[in-house]
Amino acid sequence: MATARPKLIESVSGTSSIDFAAEVRRGLSKPGQKELPSSFLYDEVGSALFEVICLLPEYGLSRAGARLLQLHAEEITERLPLPVIVAELGSGSGTKTRWILEALAKRQPVKYFPIDISRTALSRCWQELGHLDSVSLVGFERAYLDGLLEVAARRESGERLLVLFLGSTIGNFDRPAGETFLRQVREILLPGDALLLAADLEKPWPQLLAAYDDPTGVTAAFNLNILGHINRSFGADFDLSKFAHSVRYDEKQRRIEMHLRSLVDQQVKIPAADFVLRLHKGETIWTESSHKYTCPEVVTMGERAGFSCNGQWADHEWPFSQSLFLAT
Ligand code: AVJ
Repeated sequence: MATARPKLIESVSGTSSIDFAAEVRRGLSKPGQKELPSSFLYDEVGSALFEVICLLPEYGLSRAGARLLQLHAEEITERLPLPVIVAELGSGSGTKTRWILEALAKRQPVKYFPIDISRTALSRCWQELGHLDSVSLVGFERAYLDGLLEVAARRESGERLLVLFLGSTIGNFDRPAGETFLRQVREILLPGDALLLAADLEKPWPQLLAAYDDPTGVTAAFNLNILGHINRSFGADFDLSKFAHSVRYDEKQRRIEMHLRSLVDQQVKIPAADFVLRLHKGETIWTESSHKYTCPEVVTMGERAGFSCNGQWADHEWPFSQSLFLAT
């Protein structure tokens, strides 16, 4: 049984580059630690580099996430109320989602709505998942919550909603902001809807440092590309050779931090953001955090956001978790 498979990517009109410019200016004009929004890492080059990161032997996250879904997709989908439609936050290329969609498609036709700010990611997702039997796909080029609101508005009566948040991107939020984000997701859902949430788990810091500062230098390129992205988007004149990738593990916050360290005193013009950045030698721009969790901590966070935990699966080769939550 095959359902219609429209190739359709709905695109944003609301998010103009002016909003992004304001975000960049705000982050770079902070009086203390300067910062950039980590979502800025993912332009076309950044998304391609991230896919290479996922192939590195040192970076076990995505393989662990995929392994868990491959092993447990049947069990996970058996715990869902049916019929259910599927929204995915930050689908990326969608590779690991296949396991869930295939398991669900054995039980019902599946409407799948990937949501991603990157059009490139959505078309990769279409290539990967657009031809599965009994799966229809409509992609939304949107911020997570905007896209989720639109998917929720499309549901027909009796349909439940399953939200997939599989990239462990929850780790990019500070802990309180992560909980707030889950609560915002919950507010869009109805009781009985579900959330499958991936979170990377605590592990010895040397292993984490190697994962984020790989000897091949791919993560360094990924990090530096944020400056290239700003050059291309805003006509800025960042000289990438005057910065170094720098990674630290903050034991108190239990997070990896990625920074770009200025190798000299320098000044950078960012015309479209109407801003001149001054940096001292040694000063850093903070580009990403990646918080590490424990399994019970993930359960508590979900419960405080208005969910009950209906199952949790952990990978032991690379400590990583998938948690299934139901909206209460
Ligand atoms: C895609 C957000 C899960 O935090 O591990 C990979 C991004 N940054 N290497 C992560 C990332 C540096 C990644 N997430």
